Amino acid sequence: MSKAGRLVVLVSGSGTNLQALLDASTDPSYGARVVAVGADREGIEGLARATKAQIPTFVEKLRDYGTRAEWDAAIAARIAAYEPDLVVSAGFMKILGAPTLDAFPVLNTHPALLPSFPGAHGVRDALAHGVKVTGCTVMLADSGVDTGPIIAQEAVPVLPDDDEAVLHERIKTVERRLLVDIVGRMVREGWTVTGRIVHLGTGPIVRTGNQSGGEST
Ligand code: GRF
Repeated sequence: MSKAGRLVVLVSGSGTNLQALLDASTDPSYGARVVAVGADREGIEGLARATKAQIPTFVEKLRDYGTRAEWDAAIAARIAAYEPDLVVSAGFMKILGAPTLDAFPVLNTHPALLPSFPGAHGVRDALAHGVKVTGCTVMLADSGVDTGPIIAQEAVPVLPDDDEAVLHERIKTVERRLLVDIVGRMVREGWTVTGRIVHLGTGPIVRTGNQSGGEST
């Protein structure tokens, strides 16, 4: 197998999606390994998981910078230092700016079936709307709020007695599996993006400055 794809994972909370990636990458045939974990806040379980796994971490807090543009540049530089093949925003509660998005392919995961219920409260909003099926979405990040090209989705039922926490946990069980599957496929098989359509399996990953990990189309 060729060299494992390098992942930088960004977190803001409990980091169970990060943990799923860490667990998957213990198998060399997975084809990817987490080389660093970044966060926008300190003292979170996601950073503790990285430290436990002996993965380097970094924290860039927005409030430490005078402008959003300065923070955008700072976090891009921290990510770039680890030369990632893929950046995974796994429960990272910030929109990344052009310095990161233009330099690396960035994957994002969301606990709803986009384009329904984007934003920070996707589970709450779906529940309040009364949907009977929701789910999770793995997508390429762009400069919008959960607007990037969709890579994969899976449905999850909403049950009559669900509250936000119960439903989110049911979604996250599916989300972790889907994220691990898609990250592995992307690094092993490459991808192309044509308009909003993402095709997996178009050749081994190569480092590019755009969102394509295989041939450009
Ligand atoms: C996930 O459901 C993610 O989609 C959402 O926040 C949750 C993060 O969970 N944005 P964890 O930190 O990976 O446990």
